[in-house]
Amino acid sequence: MTAKEGDREPAPAGAAGRVAVVQGQARATLLLAAGFALAAPVSAVLPHRTGRWLPLHLFLVGSLLLAISGATQLFAVTWAAGPPPGRGLVRTQRALVAVGAAGLAAGRELEAPAGLLAVAGLAVALALALLAVALHRIVANGVQRRFDPVLRWYLAALAAGGAGTVLGAALAAGVVTGAHAGRVREAHAVLNLLGLVGLVIAGTLPFFVATQARMKMSPAATPAAQRVVRGVMAAGLAVAVVGLLAGRPQPAGAGLAVYAAGQAGVVALLPRPGRRQLRWAGPRLVQLGTGLLWWTGAVLAMAVSLLGGGPALPPPALLALVVGGFAQILAAALAYLGPVLRGGGHERLTAGFAVTASWRGLAAANAAAAALICGHRVLDGALLAGWVLDAGWRAGRLSAGRQRRLMTASSSRSAAAVNSASNDAVTIR
Ligand code: HEM
Repeated sequence: MTAKEGDREPAPAGAAGRVAVVQGQARATLLLAAGFALAAPVSAVLPHRTGRWLPLHLFLVGSLLLAISGATQLFAVTWAAGPPPGRGLVRTQRALVAVGAAGLAAGRELEAPAGLLAVAGLAVALALALLAVALHRIVANGVQRRFDPVLRWYLAALAAGGAGTVLGAALAAGVVTGAHAGRVREAHAVLNLLGLVGLVIAGTLPFFVATQARMKMSPAATPAAQRVVRGVMAAGLAVAVVGLLAGRPQPAGAGLAVYAAGQAGVVALLPRPGRRQLRWAGPRLVQLGTGLLWWTGAVLAMAVSLLGGGPALPPPALLALVVGGFAQILAAALAYLGPVLRGGGHERLTAGFAVTASWRGLAAANAAAAALICGHRVLDGALLAGWVLDAGWRAGRLSAGRQRRLMTASSSRSAAAVNSASNDAVTIR
């Protein structure tokens, strides 16, 4: 038997089975996220009406928001030793993101009535509110207090995302038009990209890098230091958004420069992996680093563009951010979480990490991001296809291994036993 989502009622805080329950929930959510991640490049090559908006939103709303939903709840239960969220809450939250993302994509493509688009956008906003409730409950009822600062990052991110999503819904429903639409579009994108996604990544990295590399957290990552960095990034973001809405590019650019300084602050909070950690974690650790570099570089490019009176989202900066930054950070996270979530003992975990370790994928991802920003149409398509195929092949191998394992385990072991050895894999040392 397996810890399939919904098999069991949530276990209380600190109870032994709680990680297996949240792992089952995260597995279902991340599988759905992987489906949207696959749909995004496919939609880019199929004929469609809404240009780059469609693949961007399938990836950003469908894939990234689902991944954020599953991973943040998993981290909160594991690191705060809190109770898993209730089954109904998890399912409703997940369904709202998936239906909202798919509804928006189909609705804009098929020119659905404005009201339907607004409902799809508001479904996503409601999902963000439910995620905030779930995370707050887990951490407030948790045994460990070390995750409290991360919860604050997550709540700040979800607040930014809520505001950004409401602006997106207003744009999609045609409520904002004319000269204002351009400003609102930029504010919507910045709130979601740098607020929702960026603050979640920034808050998670000090814990996640330590976990990925199997080392202690940096002593620099104190709650006070995290508070300062969070304050800098949130203040920079707020100035940028107000500047964009007011049609004042220079202050907006200054705000993004402050946000980039906050990103440098995040780097100062990370542990410093040595040769031993690099040998152990290999490409997935390097990919976190390259993702962080592209993300910071893209924010600086956006700041420079605004300071020069240009747009907030020059296409090369947007592509660098989404493909070089966020897609790589997601891939690095899944290369770790995939083997952990498939369950099994330490040997299987190590075998799983060997399956997801891909220097080829890392090279293809970075080359694809570079080709995209240079506007090299044929090369970027080929490299992106290579990256997606490599990732898909590895995901298939991982999942085939899981099916075999479940067939052998089903006769004699409980779900908790199947997952027990990977329970401590998300542990901070
Ligand atoms: C769920 C609610 C959302 C809705 C209803 C929505 C809707 C929209 C609309 C209508 C536009 C303007 C398209 C145009 O000018 O033709 C837009 C642009 C954009 N949105 Fe969203 N969006 C949503 C969520 C998100 C999220 C979560 C992100 C990022 C994490 C995001 C990132 C962007 C970006 C980067 C652009 C600019 C695209 C470009 O320049 O081509 N959106 N969105």
